[in-house]
Amino acid sequence: MFFVFDGVDGAGKSTQLNLFADWLRTRGLDVDCCSDPGTTELGHQMRKLLLGNHAIEIHMRSEMLMFMTARCQLVEQKIRPALAAGKTVVCDRYVFSTVVYQGHAGNLDPDEVWQVNQVATAGLMPDLTFIFDLDVESASQRLGESRDRMESRGSDYFQQVRDGFLEEAKRWPDVTRVIDASGDIESIQATIRQAAEPLLEKRPG
Ligand code: TYD
Repeated sequence: MFFVFDGVDGAGKSTQLNLFADWLRTRGLDVDCCSDPGTTELGHQMRKLLLGNHAIEIHMRSEMLMFMTARCQLVEQKIRPALAAGKTVVCDRYVFSTVVYQGHAGNLDPDEVWQVNQVATAGLMPDLTFIFDLDVESASQRLGESRDRMESRGSDYFQQVRDGFLEEAKRWPDVTRVIDASGDIESIQATIRQAAEPLLEKRPG
């Protein structure tokens, strides 16, 4: 099983991801958590370039390919081997982020981003992606003052990010679940567990 937690910045998805992973473990599953970009050494290096507040010029297409490079390494080095070993993988972000942040909000063609992702992941898709949704103002308040390179883009960009996620979720209703992140931690977690349950019941063995 491969689950992804994605969506707007500041929506609390990492907290929910950790609670979900703990719950899966109490059900006897062997769970690996990972972050995209991150988890591998190459991913950490790409993450520093992508999120660091530096003055290096990065074209949007370069940015997209750098996220894809980190993802390719993550898939080949961590996710695919974990799935092959029968583990359950829970990943913080994946393809929807690139389609939305660099595609919808970054003015690259979302369909082209999907195509590049197909190459980067050799077609590996999650069983279910939770898309955390929150209005731009609340998300911005939760983020606070200190911002990384991506988080420093203005509210127009983040409105496009939010709209892009919702549009993609509509396009892929069978493999996504929009999570209203304005609720309290417990009820959001309960919704996530309920959505995952049918998949967990279906899994072989
Ligand atoms: P995240 O790990 O959620 O950030 P944090 O550790 O600060 O919570 O995500 C990193 C940032 O990178 C986030 O702003 C979304 C952005 N991002 C993209 O723009 N494209 C991508 O393909 C991915 C995976 C992330």
